[in-house]
Amino acid sequence: MTKKTMLLLTLGLIFLNGQANAENNTVPPAPNGIELPQHYKNWRLIGVSHRSDNNSLRAILGNPVAIEAARKGNTNPWPDGSILAKLVWADSKHPLWEPATVPAALKHAEFMIKDSNKYRSTSGWGFARWLGMEQKPYGSDASFSTECHSCHGKAKNTDYVFTRPAELP
Ligand code: HEC
Repeated sequence: MTKKTMLLLTLGLIFLNGQANAENNTVPPAPNGIELPQHYKNWRLIGVSHRSDNNSLRAILGNPVAIEAARKGNTNPWPDGSILAKLVWADSKHPLWEPATVPAALKHAEFMIKDSNKYRSTSGWGFARWLGMEQKPYGSDASFSTECHSCHGKAKNTDYVFTRPAELP
């Protein structure tokens, strides 16, 4: 590779990175101060779920720390630095194949960030949610996370996380 190509590639990467940041910075933080985690759209899959009570499909993704923990079965407790994302879409039937349930409109993206010190009052997890394609922060004030925390209390024995990492060979 010539020096010129290297330089152009480097500049290109800096530009793309800047764009990704600019994109993220336009999204306001959640009312409890949590910022939308960067690059979550590139995270890997931990599990999937389908809720038949409100007709939605979900993908549960993890940042690199969470993926490593999931692969090693080191998830009770999840290590500090883990971030779990849940992306929720309305479900619909595939137009060419009705029995296939596929995602339609994006309902929301929500996150659990593990930091046992910082989020001590909510059992070590910071909660945040952004609604729809406009990524509108959910909640009118910081108290919204008590709603998340209390329902996740059902999963207390698995570190407040409902998702069981999907089996892989
Ligand atoms: C009424 C109960 C309830 C409330 C309230 C709730 N959740 Fe959950 N959450 C669940 C259940 C059940 C699952 C697992 C099933 C699924 O995939 O939806 C889940 C899954 C998740 C996951 C994936 C990790 C896991 O635990 O499986 C994240 C991230 C998450 N919720 C974030 C939030 C955030 C942020 C809030 C508040 C804004 C919130 N939740 C409020 C019930 C709840």
